[in-house]
Amino acid sequence: MSTGAPPRSLQGTTAVVTGGTTGLGLGIAERFLAAGATVVCASRDTHDVRTVLDRFPERAHYHRADVSDEASVRDLMRFAHERTGRLDVVVANAGISRDAKLARLSLADWNAMVGTNLTGVFLTIRESLPYLLESGRGRIITVSSLMGSRTAVGAAGYCATKAGVEMLTRAAAIELGPKGISVNAIAPGFINTGMGKKVEADERLWQRYRDRIALGRLGDTAEVTEAAAFLAAPESSYVNGHVLEINGGLRWS
Ligand SMILES: NC(=O)c1ccc[n+]([C@@H]2O[C@H](COP(=O)([O-])OP(=O)(O)OC[C@H]3O[C@@H](n4cnc5c(N)ncnc54)[C@H](OP(=O)(O)O)[C@@H]3O)[C@@H](O)[C@H]2O)c1
Repeated sequence: MSTGAPPRSLQGTTAVVTGGTTGLGLGIAERFLAAGATVVCASRDTHDVRTVLDRFPERAHYHRADVSDEASVRDLMRFAHERTGRLDVVVANAGISRDAKLARLSLADWNAMVGTNLTGVFLTIRESLPYLLESGRGRIITVSSLMGSRTAVGAAGYCATKAGVEMLTRAAAIELGPKGISVNAIAPGFINTGMGKKVEADERLWQRYRDRIALGRLGDTAEVTEAAAFLAAPESSYVNGHVLEINGGLRWS
């Protein structure tokens, strides 16, 4: 039954989505485009971005960027502003996972996770600020994970970076809220794209995790992108510093 509620409109806004070329980031970019936003998808490689560039030739853009590199993130935000005349919404979605038990976790893999998942979110927030302040209705959405608040053997580095993202989000929210910028996180569980799909492909691992999910299934990409659209839209104007879990209900010990 229709509630008669208007669709969440992002008409007239510009969004940057890091990691917006595949997986959840691409889904978020598509959802924002469907709501009327102009979107800049950023990552080091183009992956599947062509699908949205072709469907929304006027409003979808790609810009190469490495979120762990200060100059690259600065250039990304400048590009978005110069190309579209504004910047209102930033989704710090780019993330990687390098699973290994601690004794075998290399410094290179640790540094890659910290550089992308945590420093990358910090740089994405910081470098977008001048433009979000100018917008007057800035929104920052960070992407954590169920692992930001739960542990898994072999995922210590990933868990640590995602826990950092959640605290960074809360700290940024109280600092930037008075300036008119809200900052929230989404924390997906196992989703049927990107990293979640890889977990499902490993039958034994997926069996172990599925038993912990109350709904007993992977989440659908749309079940995450809808939450991102809500946090970007005017309807969520009083939500700030929140970590929104989207995981089907987890039992975790
Ligand atoms: N899918 C899930 O089930 C799930 C669950 C919980 C949380 N998450 C989180 O959701 C986010 C997206 O995950 P996903 O599953 O969609 O992953 P994915 O399919 O592997 O996509 C990751 C994206 O991030 C980009 N990226 C990685 N390193 C980057 C860097 N240094 N600079 C710029 N872009 C970079 C990748 O492009 P390049 O490599 O070309 O740069 C790609 O576009 C991540 O933060 C992840 O931790 C996912």
